[in-house]
Amino acid sequence: MYFRKRRISRYYVSILGISVLCTLAFVKNSFLECVLDPDMDISTQSTACLQQRYSVLELPPRNRVNCSRIIRGDRDSIDQAVIDRITVKNKLTPMNESQYLNLTRDCKFYKNTRKFITFPLSKAEEHFPIAYSMVVHDQIEMFERLLRAIYTPQNIYCVHVDAKSQDIFKEAVRAIANCFDNVFVASKLEKVVYASWSRVQADLNCMEDLLRSKVQWRYLLNTCGSDFPLKTNAEMVKILKLLNGKNSMETEETPNHKMRRWKFHYETDDDIHMTDKEKSPPPGKVRMFSGNAYIVASRDFVRSLFEDPLVKAFVEWEKDTYSPDEHMWATLNRMARVPGSLPSHKKHDISDLTAIARLVKWQGHAGNVDEGAPYADCTGEYRRTVCIYGVGDLQWILQQHHLFGNKFDSSVDNNALQCMEQYIRHKTLYGTEL
Ligand SMILES: *[C@@H]1O[C@H](CO)[C@@H](O)[C@H](O)[C@H]1NC(C)=O
Ligand SMILES: *[C@@H]1O[C@H](CO)[C@@H](O)[C@H](O)[C@H]1NC(C)=O
Ligand SMILES: *[C@@H]1O[C@H](CO)[C@@H](O)[C@H](O)[C@H]1NC(C)=O
Repeated sequence: MYFRKRRISRYYVSILGISVLCTLAFVKNSFLECVLDPDMDISTQSTACLQQRYSVLELPPRNRVNCSRIIRGDRDSIDQAVIDRITVKNKLTPMNESQYLNLTRDCKFYKNTRKFITFPLSKAEEHFPIAYSMVVHDQIEMFERLLRAIYTPQNIYCVHVDAKSQDIFKEAVRAIANCFDNVFVASKLEKVVYASWSRVQADLNCMEDLLRSKVQWRYLLNTCGSDFPLKTNAEMVKILKLLNGKNSMETEETPNHKMRRWKFHYETDDDIHMTDKEKSPPPGKVRMFSGNAYIVASRDFVRSLFEDPLVKAFVEWEKDTYSPDEHMWATLNRMARVPGSLPSHKKHDISDLTAIARLVKWQGHAGNVDEGAPYADCTGEYRRTVCIYGVGDLQWILQQHHLFGNKFDSSVDNNALQCMEQYIRHKTLYGTEL
């Protein structure tokens, strides 16, 4: 009896041993199968591996703020995040240029550790490439976080680095760009002087390079260093398809005080100066409109800038005006001959809030919505009369239709930026709200 029992238990022990070995082998196998190679074809991977792959691509905040509650406007979580910002601000120093130069020596390692999504997530997105003209001059980590949020392997990204940026900044941008086939630095770099023609020329340099690229992109979006997307790439594709060839940007009647911006000749050196020399009216008796630097433009719109003789003459005429970015695009988008434009009649005026290009909170307009203000006051900080968003602005921001918001700045409220990153990444991977 005793003997038999021993033999039976030995029998069970060996069965158990074999099954443990088998389980270990299986775990090892599926672990190998799930190796997180950014260049691996996802269509060949199992659901379990995909889940594992997606979860490592999530971007949770590096501190203990609860973004899910913050974006729903939860008062306690917002107050906590504000206290956190004040107390730990100095603990989260952004990555500097040297660190990016070091990291990007191994591109695969760089893309993995910085969690870039390197595979297309849907056929619809794959078949609708978007071109980006990204204008930057400092804050390398902000640039990289914006690129990471909008990066997909089928889009194409031109980066214009200010010619007067520090050499190490330029090197770091190039090092990041060199890790991707579809990210490049503009072939010509301008010294960008505030409110002068150079800001428009920077975009034009990228646009010309982008038209030469072999990617058949459908729409162009332009960004600056303090922009962040409010929509996922999949959502942008849906929205852009609905535009059906139309452009979207602010374009309104010119307020009287802005007329002098193009009625006089301006001169630019390290700064821009008005002269008393009057300019001739725009070519083709074009009616002038007022808007801003950020546009959603169809490929044909961009092509017309380099091909249509009257458009080219008008662009040339803009070169000695003040802040041409704030009237050139707006006016082009009301010229009948320009693809995707609107009629010049006043009924077609579009405000920055109605257009989808950029969501901005202007200090002069913010206030009590119940008393008629277009939006509530900034919960971050104002810089040059524009709100740098704080966590208290996120719920409102995410209810708007714009593709991008401006301004975000990690040195003012990194929690707002972290929550936007987590939200956009979550929606990108799972298609659901955070
Ligand atoms: C954040 O809050 C939500 C809703 O209350 C909760 O479900 C979630 O677990 C919280 N997340 C974290 C990381 O604490
Ligand atoms: C960049 O950061 C590293 C690590 O914090 C530091 O050692 C280095 O001095 C910094 N380099 C510059 C140029 O600030
Ligand atoms: C450079 O990167 C390596 C790993 O790739 C890391 O061990 C090292 O600390 C980094 N050096 C600096 C100065 O960041």
